[in-house]
Amino acid sequence: MGSMIAAAAACAMAFFAATAVAFGADAARGQQLWESRCFGCHALDADRVGPRHRGVVGRKAGTVPGFAYSPAVQRSGIEWTTAMLDAWLADPQGLVPGQRMNVRVAASEDRADIIAFLARESAKR
Ligand code: HEC
Repeated sequence: MGSMIAAAAACAMAFFAATAVAFGADAARGQQLWESRCFGCHALDADRVGPRHRGVVGRKAGTVPGFAYSPAVQRSGIEWTTAMLDAWLADPQGLVPGQRMNVRVAASEDRADIIAFLARESAKR
């Protein structure tokens, strides 16, 4: 009985981990995380050390006009879907070897919330 409950709980946790980007992500918490962990290099509407973030969800990688991307990001052919953003934030160097963003977000929950914030802002103008 106990092991059935444990198995059900493990299933539920796997489900929530896999779907965290789609469901239950918290854009308000994502904004706070973005301000503390991304805003040092990125702004929504201006290029800084990194390219502007508004519109990034759905954008092709390396395509903000005038921003000096690494050749690796420019050649990557990636479209920034929520799943691709999750892979990028988990391990930029693993996704695009030779890229220049030296930052990782280890916790999947944090990534999901940051991506929810980026999606919300990308939908605005
Ligand atoms: C230390 C500076 C720095 C920080 C902090 C940083 N970035 Fe970046 N980011 C960059 C740079 C530089 C690039 C361009 C990388 C390249 O061209 O190889 C980049 C590129 C990106 C891109 C690709 C954009 C495009 O137009 O293709 C995304 C998405 C991104 N960053 C998201 C984030 C998020 C989300 C955070 C916060 C968790 C973050 N970054 C924190 C420097 C940073």
